[in-house]
Amino acid sequence: TQALRLGIAGLGTVGGGVLDILARHEGLVAARAGRPVEVVAVSARSKGKDRGHDLSKLAWHDDPVKLAADPAVDVFIELMGGEGDPAKAAVETALKAGKHVITANKALLAHHGSALARLAEEKGVALNFEASVAGGIPIIKTIREGLAGNRVGKLFGIMNGTCNYILTKMANEGRSFADVLKEAQQLGYAEADPTFDVGGFDTAHKLAVLTSLAFGVQVNLKAIDIEGIEQITLDDIRQAGEMGYKIKLLGVAVASEQGIEQRVHPTLIPKGSPAADTDGVFNAVVVKGDFVGDLMLEGRGAGAHPTASAVLSDIVDIARGNFRPAFGIPAKELRPYKAAPQKAHEGG
Ligand code: HSE
Repeated sequence: TQALRLGIAGLGTVGGGVLDILARHEGLVAARAGRPVEVVAVSARSKGKDRGHDLSKLAWHDDPVKLAADPAVDVFIELMGGEGDPAKAAVETALKAGKHVITANKALLAHHGSALARLAEEKGVALNFEASVAGGIPIIKTIREGLAGNRVGKLFGIMNGTCNYILTKMANEGRSFADVLKEAQQLGYAEADPTFDVGGFDTAHKLAVLTSLAFGVQVNLKAIDIEGIEQITLDDIRQAGEMGYKIKLLGVAVASEQGIEQRVHPTLIPKGSPAADTDGVFNAVVVKGDFVGDLMLEGRGAGAHPTASAVLSDIVDIARGNFRPAFGIPAKELRPYKAAPQKAHEGG
């Protein structure tokens, strides 16, 4: 059988994690994929850097767009990040060339998800993004496939590992915001620009993706009210704790007859309730389906190996020819986004 040939753009935290899993689980992955899976080409900033793998036999491209067009590549894996070019141009190039695409890029999807899904469907190829939301938690697959028989009315969760790590360490160890943020960066949890994490934008990107998938509407990032965690002080956390609460940054999406509401903000969660015990780099997403009831998935939301684990599931699906429309239904059937009327009020 022919090997599935991968081209990886971006060998940072997640790209390195994908190489680790492929090296360690070569046989396992081949068995699940039904054929060998091999990386044939890459594009990354520093060619000389030691990544712990022998990459000397791979084709190197300085330009990810060239990698996306490389005829030796069957699946283009975009792990660079960034809402615009070169990630956007590279993904479009790969799709137009009839290649399957895997991306972990929630910013790209939040801005251009519906259009990219449409392009993938016109070409009959996969656009898979399990790694884009909540790291290692298979939340995309769960909503798209596992809940296919349900109408989802609400979803919410802790979707940013960096923020949850910061809030947890501030609460448990009394450390400063800046100190813990630095550690989260060293652990490979944070975005290249951590403002995206602490400002709530990364959570908003992920929420926009889940909202489209869960409610069958076009992706709409602009509709989200966003508040991050920069204003949260040790004192706030202490006081919340004394009253029996934890402070968590939540993304929330609700669908009703009136329309959809999406918001991101720090929230007081009573200790003992779902997601309250989700600490550190862990994420938790709660989805309410009309037939399944409440479902909560919890797991590591950031970091090299958990996120790479999600990329591997997309690789195996594509190897098996098992893929669905990116947002569950064909992109042209996604309903236009209708915002619920603003409620008068609500302080924080
Ligand atoms: N910076 C993100 C986080 C990475 O902390 O959750 C995973 O998407």
